[in-house]
Amino acid sequence: MITNTELEYKGNLYPNQIVDYKRDSDKLYFTTENGVILEVTVLQDSVLRFRYATEYVFEPDFSYAISETASKGYNRLEVTENKTEYLLETSVLQLLIDKKTLRTQISDLEGNIINEDELGFHWEENYEYGGNTVKMSKITQTAESFYGMGDKATHSNLKGKRVNNWCTDQYAYGKDQEPLYKAIPFYTGLHKGKSYGIFFDNTFRTYFDFAHERRNITSFWADGGEMNYYFFYGPQMSEVVRSYTNLTGTPEMPPQWALGYHQSKWSYFPESRVKEIADNFRKLKIPCDAIYLDIDYMDGFRCFTWDKTRFPDPKRMIGELNEDGFKTVVMIDPGIKVDKDYWVYQEAMEKDYFCKRGDGPYMQGKVWPGACKFPDYTNPEVRAWWAELYKEFMAEIGVHAVWNDMNEPAVMEVPTKTAPLDTRHNYDGHPCTHRKAHNIYGMQMVRATYEGVKKYVFPKRPFVITRAAFAGTQRYSSTWTGDNVATWEHLWIANVQAQRMCLSGYSFVGSDIGGFAEQPNGELFARWIQLGVFHPFCRVHSSGDHGDQEPWSFDNEVTDIVRKFIELRYQLLPYLYTMFYRYTEYGTPMLQSLFYYDQEDTQTHFRTDEFIFGKQILVCPVQEPNAKGRRMYVPRGKWYNYWTEETIEGGKERWVTADIDKIPLFIKEGAIIPKYPVQQYVGELEIKELILDVYFKIGAENSMVYEDAQDGYDYKKGQFSLRKFKLVGKENELIIQQFKDGSYTTSYKSFKFKLHGLPFTIATIEVDNEEVPLKQIKLNGNNSIEIDKNFTELHITGK
Ligand code: GLC
Repeated sequence: MITNTELEYKGNLYPNQIVDYKRDSDKLYFTTENGVILEVTVLQDSVLRFRYATEYVFEPDFSYAISETASKGYNRLEVTENKTEYLLETSVLQLLIDKKTLRTQISDLEGNIINEDELGFHWEENYEYGGNTVKMSKITQTAESFYGMGDKATHSNLKGKRVNNWCTDQYAYGKDQEPLYKAIPFYTGLHKGKSYGIFFDNTFRTYFDFAHERRNITSFWADGGEMNYYFFYGPQMSEVVRSYTNLTGTPEMPPQWALGYHQSKWSYFPESRVKEIADNFRKLKIPCDAIYLDIDYMDGFRCFTWDKTRFPDPKRMIGELNEDGFKTVVMIDPGIKVDKDYWVYQEAMEKDYFCKRGDGPYMQGKVWPGACKFPDYTNPEVRAWWAELYKEFMAEIGVHAVWNDMNEPAVMEVPTKTAPLDTRHNYDGHPCTHRKAHNIYGMQMVRATYEGVKKYVFPKRPFVITRAAFAGTQRYSSTWTGDNVATWEHLWIANVQAQRMCLSGYSFVGSDIGGFAEQPNGELFARWIQLGVFHPFCRVHSSGDHGDQEPWSFDNEVTDIVRKFIELRYQLLPYLYTMFYRYTEYGTPMLQSLFYYDQEDTQTHFRTDEFIFGKQILVCPVQEPNAKGRRMYVPRGKWYNYWTEETIEGGKERWVTADIDKIPLFIKEGAIIPKYPVQQYVGELEIKELILDVYFKIGAENSMVYEDAQDGYDYKKGQFSLRKFKLVGKENELIIQQFKDGSYTTSYKSFKFKLHGLPFTIATIEVDNEEVPLKQIKLNGNNSIEIDKNFTELHITGK
C-alpha cells in the first residue's frame, strides 16, 4: 500500500496520522499530525458533511447554496474506535476513518461499501493566488454509474467523462461542450442497486472526473477554497435527490400562468408587432400565457428604461395585453451602460456599487450597450438596491415577470468571455476575487431580482428566469438552457439537459423550443414542441435573425400539431401543478429519468431519451427526421398507450408508432390523471368539472391533485385543496378512495371520471356506501361518470 508520505513527491500534500479526536454534539473533529482537520457533521442519519482544513485553519463557514430551511436532526450517532480506525454509526450508515491516512469509507449497516476514498483528501499549495487546490479522489465501484451535474450537454450517464463548472456564455454550444451556463457541483452515484450523492459546495471552478483519467477512480477538485462536500445516502436515488434538494432548497409555488405556454423572440418590437403576435394566438386559438420583450424594448440597452418610439406607453400596452390574458415578461441584464446621464449608472456610481479590479479601477466590459460596469450583487446592500429598481417596472408599469440573462457574467470581445479574475467582490462580507465569486454572480443577481419582483408584484407571486446558476439558485428562479441551435442533435441535448437539471435539484427548466440559433423546419419545430410541452418551463424563443418561430410560421399541418400539443399541456395543468407542488414540498424532481424511476433495472442505466413526466406519464421524444415512430425502452410495469389505449408490459425495448402528430406517450396503469378543459390562458375559464382519467389496474396505485387560487399566498394559510386518491382494482371491481386536505374550495362541484381499460361492464356504483342509480350519474357509452367531488369512497362492480 502506498502511504501518504510517499505520495508527496507528486506536488500533492496528504494528511497523515490522526493525533486528536473531539466531538462537539453533531460535529466530529479529527486532527492529523501535519495540521489537517477533518470536520464531519451529521446533518441527518443519511446526510454527512465533510470539511477539511489545512494548517489547522478552517475558512469562515459561509455558503450561498444551502437553504435556511434545510432539515436537520438524526436518530443515532455513535462513535467508537479501534487500533486502526474510528467508526461512526448512524441509523442507516457507517463511516470509517483511517487513523493513518484520514481516508474515509462509507457503508450501509449490512457492510456494503457505498463510497470510499482512494487517496482521499489531498491538496496542492497555490503559489500564484495563495490557498490550495483542494482535491478528493474516490474508488469507482464495480459497474458504477454517475448522474446529475446540472446542464451538461452530454450523455446522462457521466461514467468516463470529465466535466468542469464555470458559468459560461456558450452561444450555439455543441454536444459535449464544456463548460456551459450553470455550475451545479452535485452528482449521484449508483452501483449494486444502491445510490448516493455528493455535493461539493465550493464556488471556485470545480472539476469532476468520473473514471475518465483513471478507469477505477472518480475525483473532484477546485481551484481554491475548501474541500467541503456533503454526502447523501439513498439507497434510492429519489431519496438522494430529495436530500440534496432539501439542503439547497426549492422554490415557492409559481403563479400557475408561469406553467402555461410562453412565446418569445429576440425581439418583438414595436408595440404593434407585439400586439399582432398576441392577437394571432387568440385568433388561431393556440393557448398562450406570456409574451417576452427581449433587449430591444430598452432605450439603447439601458436596463430599466424603455425605447419610447417602439413602446410609447408600456403601461397601457401591458394592461391591454393583460386584458387579453397575456403576461408580459421583460429582459434585464447585469451590465449597466457607462453613461453619465443614465440614472441607474449614476446611482450605482454614487453609491459605489460597481465591481472593481484588484488595484482599484472599475471592472469594465462590453456587452449589448457597449462599455458596461457591473453591480456587485454579492454585496447585500447592492442586492437591496437592485431589488428596488424593479419598483417602477412591476408596481407602476405592470410588468409581470423578469428574465435575467448574460449573468455568468458574459463579457464580449474578450477571450475569457467574462470578468477578469482579479475583479473584487464583497461575497456577503467575505471579500474575494472573481475566482471565487464567478460561479455565484448570476445567482446573486437573480436572487436580488427575485426579491424585488416578489416585493412589487405582491400580493401576486413572482416569476423570474435566469441563465446562469449555481446550486441553490432554484430557490429564486426558473431557468432555461441558453443559446441552443435548431438541429435534431439539440433536440436530444434539450431532453438530456432538462432531465439532468431536474435530477440536480433544479426542476423549473426548459429549452428554447425550436432552437435559438438557426432556423428549424416545420418538422423539427413540431417534434420540439412535442417534447417542450412536457418540460416544466415551456417557451419558444429564437434569435430571430433567421425567420419566424411562432406556431404558425410553418405550414397548417405544423400549426395544428403545435396547437394540439399546447392544448394537451393546458389540459394537463392540474397534473403539472401537482408535480410542482411535489417538487416544492418534497424536492421530488418534476422529470424523472428511467434510471431514477427504476434504479434496480440495470437496463435503464444508460438510457437517455425516455423520462417520466411527473409521476405517471412516460414520454419519449422522436428525435429524427421522417420518423414514423421509434424504438424506446418502456420501464417495468404495465402502461397504457395514451393514443390507442392499448396496454403493454414494460421491461423491454420496443417499437412505438408515432407519426408527426404524435409523440410516444404512456400512462402508468392505476394512475388517475387530472385534467382541465382547454383554456386559451390560465384562468380564462372557471373550471366547472375536473376530469379524472382513470387507468384501470388490477392492484393498487396512488395519485393526487393539488390546487389552489393559482396565484397569491393564501395557500400558505391553508387555502389549498389536496386530494389523494387510492385506486384498487380487482377482476370485477374498482374502488377509489379520496383523502382530502386543505380548505380551498375549488370552483367545480363534481369530478368527471373517465374510466379507461375497465375489464368489465358496470353493474353497480356505490358512492360512500350508497348505491346510485346508473342513470343519475350520467353513465354513457364511453364509461364516463360524474360524481360529487366530496366523495370518500367510490365502489364500482362489474357484471
Ligand atoms: C442571449 C440570450 C438570448 C437573448 C439574447 C439577446 O444570447 O441567451 O436568449 O435573446 O442574449 O438578449
